[in-house]
Amino acid sequence: MDLYAVFGNPISQSKSPFIHTLFARQTQQQLSYRAIEPAEDGFAQALADFWQAGGKGCNITAPFKEQAFQAAQQHTERALLAGAVNTLKLTDDGILLGDNTDGAGLVADLLAHFGDLNGLKILLLGAGGAARGVIGPLLEQHLDQLVIVNRTVAKAQALAERFADLGPVSASSYEALSGDFDIIINSTSTGLKGQLPPLKPELIQPTTRCYDMTYSAETTAFNRWAGELGAAKTVDGLGMLVGQAAESFAVWRGIRPGSRQVLRELRRNLS
Ligand code: ATR
Repeated sequence: MDLYAVFGNPISQSKSPFIHTLFARQTQQQLSYRAIEPAEDGFAQALADFWQAGGKGCNITAPFKEQAFQAAQQHTERALLAGAVNTLKLTDDGILLGDNTDGAGLVADLLAHFGDLNGLKILLLGAGGAARGVIGPLLEQHLDQLVIVNRTVAKAQALAERFADLGPVSASSYEALSGDFDIIINSTSTGLKGQLPPLKPELIQPTTRCYDMTYSAETTAFNRWAGELGAAKTVDGLGMLVGQAAESFAVWRGIRPGSRQVLRELRRNLS
């Protein structure tokens, strides 16, 4: 049976084995998918062991996405743009291909919840690894404007410059930020620390739709805040997780599973 895995540390909370097992059942593919937790300095060895054991492909999550980028022998365009790899595939030629499906997962979920993104003004909160992975795929959607806002403004500026050739992207500080945005996407790690990004409340208008890239059984802190301020709609990142997994599955197996049923089961099991 073909062998797949997810690498991360910590990994015990990972939903990927659950998701890919359901995808395999849905598409009638014979495969096994497990979670591997290398020590922080043990990723390269664990990966080598995995290929040795017959592994065909894997997902990579924090903190190993940059190391996975280094490990790949070839990269897709979107992985090069992201500077990080969340999907590795051993090709039939024995080449290790690095891909990044995070942005595609986000865009698929945004389209599912909010419809066409063409001509919209989008505000992206945060300029870390999570932000960098999604900017290229967002700009492919022919936005009117993508503004990256970050506490450390220089990081937002660096990202805006890096992606300037791909579309209308600019950077801002939280203080200088004004205007109406159709969609606000939270990519910051504030939720993990029980904090909120320092966004002015007036940025949340009755028409604003908010997307938090994190998820939890309860409404996320950012979505609760935005909802209380009257945002039109708030969505968490569980669909992005399933979307990036579906895209990885398609890269490996050449068949694209449907997300809806898996998402429903995952939501029901969230604790
Ligand atoms: P990830 O890979 O999840 O993006 P990261 O690279 O550490 O993680 O980036 C975390 C992001 O959350 C950064 O944009 C960070 O802002 P800084 O670059 O200024 O550090 C943002 N962030 C974390 N805590 C924050 C807070 N309390 N307020 C605003 N932004 C915060």
